[in-house]
Amino acid sequence: MTDSRPVARKDDVPIGTPIELGVNIDHVATVRQARRGHEPDPVWAAVEAELGGADGITVHLREDRRHINDDDVRRLRDIVQVKLNLEMAATDEMVAIALRVRPETAMLVPEGRNEVTTEGGLDVRGQRATLAPKIRALRDGGIRVSVFIDADPAQIEAARDLGAQVCEIHTGPYAHAFRAQGRDADAAAAERAKVAAAVALVRSLGMRFNAGHGLNYVNVGGIASIPGVRELHIGHAIVSRAVFVGLRNAVTEMKRLMREASAGT
Ligand code: PXP
Repeated sequence: MTDSRPVARKDDVPIGTPIELGVNIDHVATVRQARRGHEPDPVWAAVEAELGGADGITVHLREDRRHINDDDVRRLRDIVQVKLNLEMAATDEMVAIALRVRPETAMLVPEGRNEVTTEGGLDVRGQRATLAPKIRALRDGGIRVSVFIDADPAQIEAARDLGAQVCEIHTGPYAHAFRAQGRDADAAAAERAKVAAAVALVRSLGMRFNAGHGLNYVNVGGIASIPGVRELHIGHAIVSRAVFVGLRNAVTEMKRLMREASAGT
């Protein structure tokens, strides 16, 4: 009799592990910084997000400290009981901070001083020489390394070559197409297909597949329903909805939509 159980894949996550939600709470700090004050506190936000069912808390410690600051990261490390994901530029300063703070995941992103939010994927292929020692140092420090890249096979292969364990694929193009032309538009379907092809490649190379950027309550199903997606990272839509329904409810609702879409596959 043949064994019909699915074969475990290389990324060491058992088949059937439910999709997870990492909540990006940078925007809570953005509101605080509007008054250079003490509230709202991103640490409170992390607790509320956890109570709503977040599987991870993500913060981007930017070079200019425009929202999250070093003290936030230190306090979050003490308080957060789920995974702490530190989004960061691949600089010596940030690597040193990550090695001190020891988040579960370091998410390497490109960073521009004038951008409103992260604008595109990291050019892993073009920056091999600079990224290689940073990725090695983080891994040697016991930190899982994720790279935020476009759904481009060349970038995915470069990420594997450099030892990244996770690819976070940029869903911004999908979100833009969806918003501009609606869920049934060819453009949104084409962008979703690129993400789906990236999932297949990332997993065949033995890495985990995460995704994020521009996902919201309306478009999230299209990405959560792709088999093999491990984790979604969502910030703006959740914090925006939290203004009206509270952060705990906003997180619970997003996770419900993700889990339903994922289970429907
Ligand atoms: N993933 C990465 C790498 C990001 O830079 C961001 C934005 O900070 C997100 C996910 C979340 O994007 P959004 O705020 O649009 O949900």
